[in-house]
Amino acid sequence: MKFESQVVHAGDRKRRPGAPVPSTTPIHLSSTYFYENAATLDRVLGHEEEGYCYARYATPTNAALEELTTALEAGAGSLATASGMAAVQIAIQAALIDRPHRIIASNAIYGATVGMLDQIFAPFGIDVTYVDICDLAKFASVVEKQKPGAVFVESVSNPLLRVGDLGRIAEITRGANAALVVDNTFATPMILRPLEHGAHIVVHSASKYLAGHGDVLGGVVISDEAHHEHVRAISRLAGPVLGPFEAYLTMRGIKTLALRFERQCQNARRLAEWLALHPKIDRVYYCSDTDHPDSAQIQKYFAPGLYGAILSFEIKDHKREQVLAFMDRLKMVVPGTSLGDVHTLLLYPWSASHRNVAPKMRERMGIKENLVRVAAGIEAVDDIIADLDQALAH
Ligand SMILES: Cc1ncc(COP(=O)(O)O)c(C=O)c1O
Repeated sequence: MKFESQVVHAGDRKRRPGAPVPSTTPIHLSSTYFYENAATLDRVLGHEEEGYCYARYATPTNAALEELTTALEAGAGSLATASGMAAVQIAIQAALIDRPHRIIASNAIYGATVGMLDQIFAPFGIDVTYVDICDLAKFASVVEKQKPGAVFVESVSNPLLRVGDLGRIAEITRGANAALVVDNTFATPMILRPLEHGAHIVVHSASKYLAGHGDVLGGVVISDEAHHEHVRAISRLAGPVLGPFEAYLTMRGIKTLALRFERQCQNARRLAEWLALHPKIDRVYYCSDTDHPDSAQIQKYFAPGLYGAILSFEIKDHKREQVLAFMDRLKMVVPGTSLGDVHTLLLYPWSASHRNVAPKMRERMGIKENLVRVAAGIEAVDDIIADLDQALAH
């Protein structure tokens, strides 16, 4: 099945002899399951027979969503988690469970992921080193020196949209017997599927493009077979799982992912072109730019004609106060701290996603005081342009 059909069909409409088939998977809220005889429950608890027994382990609603996300990312299995950050945490734990407790992370990743590495993993004795993954020679030498257990990257970085050479990063990581964990939230599996390029584990904030409507907090971890076993084993004990209601909403959202994302990418491209000519804009960051520093990787890994639905731009002579005032003038674009929704969202990294990143690190990441990020929605692009234009006209 092609991607556009998978999003609509995978995971749904399970047939059981004699039972009617619901056309969409229902929300199964029960926390506990039992069977006609205790021996069956015993076998399910002992993993000798497939089945449900307790919602921390699995539910039919989550299982349907997990089958869908496994198909979309071409993995061996997936786990739906309570948030994107829970997905990041469990993915790293699964990667390190039988490897040296050393992580090499890209220096261009989501602020909360930096926080998790520095404030949760590091205090537990896990060594964390940051590196520019777009400098392959440097990356390879740091891997050689550090001998990490895991490498963590974003397929498209937040908010400056840097794109590393995933295939080469995977080769170098595998050469060191480490696990490659890729956050694919920005790209979505519609643009690229990291497992096909050698990653071991992929994570998503499902709160973004997958659910897509600004009404879900959730995540997914999709892995190859060996790592999926670890992910499941950790999850059975720690239980950071998605609730069935959110699993249902995420699955419902994914059914329109292909349609939504295509439109969002078109809108983002048009916005980037318009902003590039705007007199109040210093610089625009978007993946279709011919002078994008990673255009070779973008040509190599991105699905043809799709450059993502996020763009960032720097507003001339704007300090924090003026950026906040610009945000207050927006009438339709939502100045909210997320991305991937049907409505266009605008975020100020200095006060939101990268607020808690140390100023020096933020500087190294290239995130300036006048930088804002737009996640294009599915509205008429002329309306988005008109709103940004009036807000900039002061
Ligand atoms: C790239 C990326 N990864 C992970 C997360 C964390 O996801 P969540 O907010 O669902 O925990 C975010 C949230 O903005 C994100 O942008």
